[in-house]
Amino acid sequence: MSEYSTIVVSTESRVATIQLNRPEALNALNAEMMEEIVTAAMGFDADPGVGTILITGSQKAFAAGADIKQMADRGYADMYADDWFRRWDDLTRLRTPIVSAVSGFALGGGCELAMMSDIIIAAEGAKFGQPEINLGVIPGMGGSQRLTRAVGKAKAMDMILTGRRIDAAEAERIGLVSRVVADDQVLAEATTVAELIASKSKPSTQMAKEAVGSAFESTLGQGLLFERRMFHSLFATEDQAEGMSAFAQKRDPVWRHR
Ligand code: CAA
Repeated sequence: MSEYSTIVVSTESRVATIQLNRPEALNALNAEMMEEIVTAAMGFDADPGVGTILITGSQKAFAAGADIKQMADRGYADMYADDWFRRWDDLTRLRTPIVSAVSGFALGGGCELAMMSDIIIAAEGAKFGQPEINLGVIPGMGGSQRLTRAVGKAKAMDMILTGRRIDAAEAERIGLVSRVVADDQVLAEATTVAELIASKSKPSTQMAKEAVGSAFESTLGQGLLFERRMFHSLFATEDQAEGMSAFAQKRDPVWRHR
């Protein structure tokens, strides 16, 4: 019996999968689901046996946004008092690489959840959008910031001000997603990517994620220095010694993730 009611979790080959599971609401992200996703992901992040976290939804919807029905009757004081959506910040602080496999709708909070991951693999039929403007609000889970950093002002303004949906081909063209594959291949492709990352030395994948992430948080000079210091620090790991001697000896490295 699963400990969760809105997600299904499993772990195989160092990949932990979180499948969003509210089909009746197209995986709309209500408060319970937000809590469960973040709790599960934090548990996997702390597990040395997990090298990658994979987030996926259903064929029809990755997630159709935050749960509109749950928010509809709330007022400003409630939203502010609860600091609604703050919990997602905990997901973005995790050091384990996160891959999202996106099929169907990734709208509003669904698009924003996908953008919290490090690599998005999209199905050809996936649809991305920030339709909050049609509800009299704006993105609240990071869309105005992450979308703009991912695709630039022109496309971010276009999507956020008009609420228009884009297809997977456009999402790939503008740099929102890493790869687009046939609809029935998206989970297989994302799993392959997740397993490949999980097969590498964990300190180096974690530091690679931190170094790329710092590009969004710092000046170029600070980011370059941070990257260089991370690079130096990897020379304190057993895996660096193993990786470089394996190369010299023309054999595959055996990672100890330390
Ligand atoms: N919240 C709550 N319920 C939702 C939902 C959402 N975001 N999206 C879909 N649902 C529910 C529908 O109400 C419907 O429930 P009922 O059967 O009880 O009526 C069920 O899921 C199936 O949806 P539809 O019948 O609408 O399915 P469709 O195929 O006709 O349309 C859709 C699909 C175009 C995605 C449409 O459901 C839709 O437009 N959803 C809302 C998209 C949206 O506006 N997202 C942004 C939410 S706000 C937000 O995310 C804020 C933020 O920044 C975090």
